[in-house]
Amino acid sequence: MKKTVLDILKEQHNEFITYDCISKMLHISKSEVQKELNNLENIGYAIQFMPHRGIKLMNVPDKLIPEELKYNLNTRIVGKRIFCYDNVDSTNNIARELSRKINIEGLVVFAESQSNGRGRMSKSWISPRGGLYLSLVLKPKNSLKEIMKFYLLSSVAVAKAIRKVSGINCLIKWPNDIVVNDKKIAGILTESSIRNHKIEFLILGIGVNVNTKSDKLPIGSTTLLEETNRFYSRLVLAKEILREMEVHYFLFKDAGITPIINMWQNLSSCLGSTVKIFRDAKIITGDVIGIDQMSGALLIREDNGFIEKILNVDNIKIIRGKGSG
Ligand code: BTN
Repeated sequence: MKKTVLDILKEQHNEFITYDCISKMLHISKSEVQKELNNLENIGYAIQFMPHRGIKLMNVPDKLIPEELKYNLNTRIVGKRIFCYDNVDSTNNIARELSRKINIEGLVVFAESQSNGRGRMSKSWISPRGGLYLSLVLKPKNSLKEIMKFYLLSSVAVAKAIRKVSGINCLIKWPNDIVVNDKKIAGILTESSIRNHKIEFLILGIGVNVNTKSDKLPIGSTTLLEETNRFYSRLVLAKEILREMEVHYFLFKDAGITPIINMWQNLSSCLGSTVKIFRDAKIITGDVIGIDQMSGALLIREDNGFIEKILNVDNIKIIRGKGSG
């Protein structure tokens, strides 16, 4: 890929570099260098100018911009094309529209805020500034019956990314809520486009409560800021999520769902617990014993010994924690 002025400034590691040097390195005129620097400043980069010494990059904005998201991302497909918006209705909608026009697996849409963010089960996802909202498009060759497996792999990826960046020991609540002390810190909405009974593309919409205050969010939510009392670079977290998504997607492609299920079980907030599940008009009570390898469904052993496969639920309530009583 062609080097840019920004690449060269970053390579200087806090040292000054002259216009002359940059223009020679990139084979462009000094006025083109100046034009590029003006663009960077307009986006929000802080650049220091010193007579006789040249220029130095002082600060990178915590804005979601494709150049920064792609820098040292080191993925093969996830983030191949990145689109960033200020405000959209829902990044999942934009990802769907773009995927109908451009056929790219790994396309990602980010927005600083959403006016009509969607959650699972027709709920809304409140998306103020300070949070992270993205949608990733994948084109797996799996059948629609296996869609739950993508819930599992994406929740493992997002939980691991949050743990890595913040040190918070978040867990996964079935099917793919990320929780801290049972309060929701992130959620994933998986949508699909189906053609001839096959997945044409999947849209994995991920929302993380990062630098927001939970009084702006639904009851039962928490944020990275509130859990640790510090602000986070959304850029760093976003890149970690993209990397983890790719790692777990390839792991699934190469080794199947078993290693993902093992990781999911280790991160699960409900494995080994007794739960109550509200499904349609029915209430199912039993012990969570694992994940079905074929479908990715949650396995619940009811009191009468019957094993129920849970594929989609609105509400799961832990009534007795792991190993208690
Ligand atoms: C849930 O927990 O119910 C899922 C929430 C998913 C929210 C994300 S934010 C980015 C993407 N765009 C949306 O409209 N929803 C998902």
